[in-house]
Amino acid sequence: MTSNFTSGNSTPSLVSPVIDSHLIKEHLTADSPLKLGIMASGKGSNFEAVAQAIADGKLNAQIQVLIYNNPGILAATRAQKWGVPAVLLNHRDYKKRKDFDKIIVDTLRAYEVDWVVMAGWMRVVTQVLIEAFPNQIINIHPSLLPSFKGVRALEQALDAGVKITGCTVHLVTLEIDSGRILMQAAVPIERDDTPETLRARVQVLEHRILPQAIILAAQLHNR
Ligand code: GRF
Repeated sequence: MTSNFTSGNSTPSLVSPVIDSHLIKEHLTADSPLKLGIMASGKGSNFEAVAQAIADGKLNAQIQVLIYNNPGILAATRAQKWGVPAVLLNHRDYKKRKDFDKIIVDTLRAYEVDWVVMAGWMRVVTQVLIEAFPNQIINIHPSLLPSFKGVRALEQALDAGVKITGCTVHLVTLEIDSGRILMQAAVPIERDDTPETLRARVQVLEHRILPQAIILAAQLHNR
């Protein structure tokens, strides 16, 4: 296993060691695809990256459903484009977080989901969801955890004046952005970066590591 440098955009970035190639091969030739449920609150570029990785034969999986909580978001349009059922569950319709999570669990089960991928899901989750899918919920966060947890992670990094930030894919636990780390990628911060310019570079790496981290999570789970 080796770390690797890439010069995708203007600056090089560093990606954490990927799974062994024989494990990827094993995953790709496995009989049954991973059944994914993706949860999104925004533009869904990570949804798209997962769908594309599947279409490219890099991820042996099937997206059973997209659950989204904000009407009219781009993620839902993307799901339609890929022929993935998109279910709107609006958190504003539920008084308690646990009630909201219960309907999410019911929906994921109705679509026979095994693996839950939070790809820009901007709601705090409760034990109702976590206990329904133990060690099978994955989140992507735009920082090198454990730095800059919570919202506005890119702004936090810029405010702190760090010179390198990045993204992390991790398992979800009750404590926000704190579960077992699966993969990370680092992105140098440039002097004139704004949250938007930095986000663009971080997202290139998010799209790269998320499909790989899904494979890794499945491999770890089956060990
Ligand atoms: C990503 O930057 C992810 O790290 C964070 O929310 C953003 C979602 O982006 N949790 P998109 O909706 O997938 O484009």
